[in-house]
Amino acid sequence: MASIHVIRVASCQGSGHAPLALAVPLPHVIRAGLCLMGHCPGHSPATGSSTAPGTVLVQEPASPEVVEAASRENSQCCVDPLLAMEQKDVIRQELGSLHGIPLFKSFIEGWPQVKAFQARPDDLLISTYPKSGTTWLSEIMDMIYHDGDVEKCRRDAIYNRVPFLEMKVSKGPSVPCATGVEQLENTPSPRLVKTHLPVQLLPTSFWEKDCKIIYMARNPKDVVISYYYFHHMAKIHPDPGTKAEFLENFMAGKVAYGSWYNHVRGWWEKKQEKMLYLFYEDMKKDPRREVQKILHFLGKELAEGTVERILHHTSFQEMKKNPAANYETMLPTMMDHSVSPFLRKGISGDWKNHFTVAQNERFNQHYQEHMAGSDLHFQMEV
Ligand code: A3P
Repeated sequence: MASIHVIRVASCQGSGHAPLALAVPLPHVIRAGLCLMGHCPGHSPATGSSTAPGTVLVQEPASPEVVEAASRENSQCCVDPLLAMEQKDVIRQELGSLHGIPLFKSFIEGWPQVKAFQARPDDLLISTYPKSGTTWLSEIMDMIYHDGDVEKCRRDAIYNRVPFLEMKVSKGPSVPCATGVEQLENTPSPRLVKTHLPVQLLPTSFWEKDCKIIYMARNPKDVVISYYYFHHMAKIHPDPGTKAEFLENFMAGKVAYGSWYNHVRGWWEKKQEKMLYLFYEDMKKDPRREVQKILHFLGKELAEGTVERILHHTSFQEMKKNPAANYETMLPTMMDHSVSPFLRKGISGDWKNHFTVAQNERFNQHYQEHMAGSDLHFQMEV
């Protein structure tokens, strides 16, 4: 059965606790212990260790950075050897199709629960096409929700602070949350919810409950390059092939979540009072103005110093070195940051370093055709 598996965390020596298991958001499977602050008394600060939230504690194999991080944290967690075998069936698997949208097969298996998901009126949905700044926006939102308290926003990895709605992993005997839906059910309000679903597939309860939605879009040339490198490092994705092949697949919508054009246009056309449509390029150009836009949308006011702290904490440089935001808590076997870091470049216009002149011309032509008749416009660089 096609599935993505859940981490089963071996019990921590001396903690006396049963193995803790956590759903791995995004389809990135971790084969190691994941100690979360407060979940593992053996590693609580009271016992002398200061394990960072979401830190993966690897035994082998591991990159030098992860080994270093693990030893820094004085880890005693153990790897479950079964996990090494379990995860093999998700690596580089072909995509399935959900109502015509290419998607990971395990997510498709979980679709009935996602479709029936009960949103709460105070949920805030963060919606994006992949590689459009989801993590950036998520970190900004969590900081806003916690009034710029950096320590609170280090409480856990970003994929646990902002659960991924349609994510599904296989449930093991000791797994409490195998899906984004279950993870969300266990999250107190007000919840931040992440999705990459195209607008037509959003569970209806979000509309019925009139939830606030923030959509963030990014120009397709940077998205495709970012997605290409992400395919290389995040091995749940099918093999991307060459850059030229991947570009063709992206243009044809034959990548996870389908056509970028349909995604950005679909959400744009659904834009209403309770939806804020943002652009990655605007956020790059003037993050203060964009954060103010978000605050206005939320009806929230923050002191200038707090806004300043949010901007600093969510800058590319700060997020890149923050283990709660940079996805380095994922094991290199599934997310290999040595191939390409999750926070890779964080700029607008990187596509110029990758597109040939011919590819650019062809892409421009394709873009014109697919955006015809829309008042949605993108800045290809800033
Ligand atoms: P690049 O691969 O172009 O660097 P997502 O979170 O939707 O997967 O998007 C990932 C992209 O957003 C990556 O783009 C990543 O570097 C970029 N990103 C993440 N945090 C950022 C930040 N604080 N500032 C600018 N870009 C950021």
